Amino acid sequence: MAILFHSPWDNADQWLAALRMALPDDEIRVWPAVGAPEEIDFAMVWQIPHGVLAGFPNLLAIASLGAGVDALVADPDLPRHVPITRLLDPLMADRMAEYVCAAVLHHHLGLDVYAEQQGREQWRRQPARDARDRSVALLGLGQMGQRCAHRLGGLGFNLLGWSRRARKIDGVRCSHGPDRLHRLLAMADIAVVLLPLTAQTTNLMDQAAFDLMRRGSYLINCSRGEIVVEDELIAALDDGRLAGATLDAFRVEPLAAGHPLWRHARVRVTPHIASLSAPATAALILADQVRRARTGQPQQDLVDVRHGY
Ligand code: GLV
Repeated sequence: MAILFHSPWDNADQWLAALRMALPDDEIRVWPAVGAPEEIDFAMVWQIPHGVLAGFPNLLAIASLGAGVDALVADPDLPRHVPITRLLDPLMADRMAEYVCAAVLHHHLGLDVYAEQQGREQWRRQPARDARDRSVALLGLGQMGQRCAHRLGGLGFNLLGWSRRARKIDGVRCSHGPDRLHRLLAMADIAVVLLPLTAQTTNLMDQAAFDLMRRGSYLINCSRGEIVVEDELIAALDDGRLAGATLDAFRVEPLAAGHPLWRHARVRVTPHIASLSAPATAALILADQVRRARTGQPQQDLVDVRHGY
């Protein structure tokens, strides 16, 4: 039997090297050079074209090479009877937490303001604010959200959290369900989007949400671009409702040349790197999933296709 691999991202070679090391006795076939489809029993994929996975009759499991599975579950021909897993690698949660802490601290310390002042050669101290007086709302309290909470809590921020279902997390004022989101946004100085993309979260951060946020508050999106209505965000930035935004995900990626977000003075853009998969550690997790699938043990970190994550 053989393993199917597909990733259009630029770290595919790193992935293949790590997987070959973790699975030395396995044949890894890179789509579209898959050979006989019935020989494929395990798929490790990222952004595989829709319809492809339906062509392998003997799949035991499908593993996402990332934490998000929105692109996978959007495939109308996805073989839904096959177990599908997300990649939950503690190292990716650490990477996410580092990114979020950096973005929160950047805004908290006024570093954008000082960068503007430097451009004008202006020496002027802005009023400082204590971390405990700054409320950070984490939207999404899964593995990533919890790691961010842990790190931001260590820095002293006042933490609020929101998720689809009820959660209890030390040091975080948690709320859940659609009715509570707007109340939470009204209390936040910084909102961090870490939610999976689902029918419920698409366009969640829209004008109505920005209107509720405190004047001068800040948005960080490390999830999926489709959760934020980009032109309504730009309007909220332009009229000062939001002080700024750090965005790592966009509705269309790569962000198109000339897109207004590239050059917006109060937007920081990164190319979807907040929680890059780490092939060296992830390959060990995936090798274990292959072993489980072939010995009839349940897969870890299963996706609930009905909920979309
Ligand atoms: C990246 O976006 C991921 O889902 O892992």
